[in-house]
Amino acid sequence: MPAEDERWRAVDEYLEGELLPRDEGLEGAVAASEAAGLPSIQVSPLQGKLLHLLVASLGARRALELGLLGGYSTIWIARALAPGGRVVSLELEPRHAEVARSNLARAGVADRVEIRVGPALDTLRTMIADGTEPFDFAFLDADKPRTAEYFEGAMQLVRPGGVIVVDNVVRHLAVLAGDTPDPGTEGMRRFLARVAAEPRARGTVIQTVGRKGYDGFALLRVAGEGPARPPTKGA
Ligand code: SAH
Ligand code: DHB
Ligand code: MG
Repeated sequence: MPAEDERWRAVDEYLEGELLPRDEGLEGAVAASEAAGLPSIQVSPLQGKLLHLLVASLGARRALELGLLGGYSTIWIARALAPGGRVVSLELEPRHAEVARSNLARAGVADRVEIRVGPALDTLRTMIADGTEPFDFAFLDADKPRTAEYFEGAMQLVRPGGVIVVDNVVRHLAVLAGDTPDPGTEGMRRFLARVAAEPRARGTVIQTVGRKGYDGFALLRVAGEGPARPPTKGA
């Protein structure tokens, strides 16, 4: 690993020590996921806190997540929701969902998270067809080749004024460094072209370094001024 990457990790560790109190729910989720053999690709602690702060700043009550894995990012999001809030997290692998359920319970957020197992694109289509209550926030972090399609789905499910965050945008622009294009790279390029052509969203990308190396988050806001609390059905 290049020396620079070591420094990025060391700085992340220093910042975590300063800004993040020890937390059995979050640390337990990482340890149990690793012990269960899940890939260690969850957001970093500081990135998780960024998601948490965005959700809290929005006063979000409903959050959508694509890519649950062991539920690490889910815990950060769930803990920031307004009272009565809910995260709906879409995951392909039943085994990941099983590990996540136990992690979410340990972190005390199981009652705020609904897991839907299956291909995210199918679940998104079902949710759109069912007229699912709009979300205030979405975090797209599933398989990268389909990110453009996930963004289209999220645009139909996130309310005006809502926020969409997309992980691993820069990692998958490796083509810029002359690497062989892969489906993840093509997926991210299609996603960014789709953002540029979408009049209902404004977005930016923040390049990041840290314990996960060199990468980036896309941050998007859906146009308009939706209610901070969409009316609940029947209310
Ligand atoms: N958001 C998590 C990390 C997610 S890793 C965190 O930061 O803690 C990506 C996840 O997406 C994996 O669990 C993988 O199984 C899942 N995934 C891959 N393809 C998928 C698909 N088609 N639909 C739903 N989930 C998918
Ligand atoms: C991978 C996926 C992720 O969502 C991530 O944040 C890092 C790596 C991967 O599939 O390698
Ligand atoms: Mg990711």
